[in-house]
Amino acid sequence: MHKVKIVLIGAGTWGEAHAEIYSSHHLSEFIAVCDVSEEKAKALAQKYNVRYFADYEKMLDDVECDAVAIVTPDFAHAKPIVAAAKRNKHILCEKPLATSYQDLNLILNVLKGKNIQLMVDFHNRWNPPICKIKDDIDAGKIGRIVSAYIRLNDIIYVPTEMLSWAEESSILWFLGSHSVDVLNWIIGAKVKRVYSVYYEGILKSKGMDVPDLYQTILEYSNGAVATMENSWILPNTNPYVNDYKLNITGERGMFNMDFSHNTLLERFLENESSHPDIICKPKIHGKPTGFAYESIRDFIERIYHKEKVRIPLEESIAVTKIIFAIMESAKKKMPVTVEL
Ligand SMILES: NC(=O)c1ccc[n+]([C@@H]2O[C@H](COP(=O)([O-])OP(=O)(O)OC[C@H]3O[C@@H](n4cnc5c(N)ncnc54)[C@H](O)[C@@H]3O)[C@@H](O)[C@H]2O)c1
Repeated sequence: MHKVKIVLIGAGTWGEAHAEIYSSHHLSEFIAVCDVSEEKAKALAQKYNVRYFADYEKMLDDVECDAVAIVTPDFAHAKPIVAAAKRNKHILCEKPLATSYQDLNLILNVLKGKNIQLMVDFHNRWNPPICKIKDDIDAGKIGRIVSAYIRLNDIIYVPTEMLSWAEESSILWFLGSHSVDVLNWIIGAKVKRVYSVYYEGILKSKGMDVPDLYQTILEYSNGAVATMENSWILPNTNPYVNDYKLNITGERGMFNMDFSHNTLLERFLENESSHPDIICKPKIHGKPTGFAYESIRDFIERIYHKEKVRIPLEESIAVTKIIFAIMESAKKKMPVTVEL
């Protein structure tokens, strides 16, 4: 097969990460980029010497490609998915798959009868400590999983300065989707029921109509109980953008992961102290390295070799449905049964 020809929709912060891989992987050919901001599309296109567009329908009509990467804001994934699927292109879509029932239905309808692959980029399935935990659990090292605690939070810079569209999303979509996917993957059962409580006020006081955090309990069909915390109001002085911790407790053992405040590398500079990223998205000898890139690489390689993508679509649909239930529970202040 010829190299996988890829086009990119969304030339923002994370679109740049995708572009780095498409332009450097030996099995892919980066063809074109589109952004509603023609300026952003042009800047990225010039960096990688590819064509650029401000309208993805036009791009998909004008260029020949095998796959489409969708890296638009959380609430803007469905329409580009529909456009790509109608043209029978494979799709790598950023998380979450969709943020409304209407969008989810649009996606499910367009995919009916299509022989294309769609993977949602839940890159924690390539995160080394999480993969180690998963392997050990699958090998039966801690027996039946009894409970899990996951906390994936962001500093307040993220909703107030980094994302222009935070109010149109939620910390549940932005980070909670990763948390639910990690829990589902490790626990290996279906969520039956959720109960969630949210807190609001800090972002509201800054004029943003969006909750600050959600605390959620998830009950699984195999009896495991998980607690999940997702907040985006941590102080900007936290030494890393995320506050990411995980505990898995089983009948015969447990795992603790500290992603953000471990002492693998502490850095104390004149005006800054930090625990810099060394496994998510670092550069090693100038090359993009880390699990955030591995998921994108894996997608290219599997499309090239005509293999099934690593994350089945049904599992990403389940994440979306679970988050709908969590939001409903927080709103109603009652547990909600999840229909998967
Ligand atoms: N896998 C991860 O862990 C990870 C990390 C960061 C971001 N993301 C996801 O990536 C997506 C993009 O996030 P970001 O931080 O790059 O946001 P961003 O705002 O920096 O970039 C989004 C870009 O999409 C463009 N855009 C919006 N609507 C469009 C449309 N209809 N057609 C073409 N372009 C359009 C915007 O102009 C913007 O340039 C989000 O879904 C986010 O959750 C994933």
